[in-house]
Amino acid sequence: MPIDPRDFRDAMGRFATGVAIVTCDGPNGPSGLTTNAISSLSLDPLLLLVCFDNTSRTLDAVKRSGRFAVNMLRAEHEELASTFASKREQHEKFEVATHRIEHGVPVLDDALSWLACDVHDLLPGGDHTIGVGRVTQTWTSPQDGPPLIFYSGMLRQTVP
Ligand SMILES: Cc1cc2nc3c(=O)[nH]c(=O)nc-3n(C[C@H](O)[C@H](O)[C@H](O)COP(=O)(O)O)c2cc1C
Repeated sequence: MPIDPRDFRDAMGRFATGVAIVTCDGPNGPSGLTTNAISSLSLDPLLLLVCFDNTSRTLDAVKRSGRFAVNMLRAEHEELASTFASKREQHEKFEVATHRIEHGVPVLDDALSWLACDVHDLLPGGDHTIGVGRVTQTWTSPQDGPPLIFYSGMLRQTVP
């Protein structure tokens, strides 16, 4: 019997994740999207991975620029996450997030941490593309705090 994609989503949704905004810069300014399909991958060399939906406009920008950043969100960043999960114009998304360019990538001022990456590989993964990033710079905020969580299909400040 084929598995209904909703059942797949429901089962995977019981795996609580953090939420990050993946950003990149380009000739038309910064781009970004909300993500939770992120993982550290390797320590030697330092690699992480991000799974991009093939329809993501940010993926196109990442392919062109060869760089991206992963910005880890705080619990209070729910609205930011919703904005970056939308198909609004990229410049409108960045109106709600103060950022600066570091190592050629946009980093969010109020993130819990960020990692700047060069694209190491882009691998096919069904209707997604697995972006493997070689980490070139990291920053961790001295102001620690609770992370934004994605669980059971919802953005949450705490896990039920
Ligand atoms: C909690 C959450 C997690 C998401 N995770 C991903 C993800 O890992 N990869 C992805 O491509 N899209 C993910 N999305 C959907 C994108 O944020 C959404 O498709 C966005 O509009 C893409 O923007 P873009 O086309 O400007 O790149 C997620 C959305 C939410 C709300």
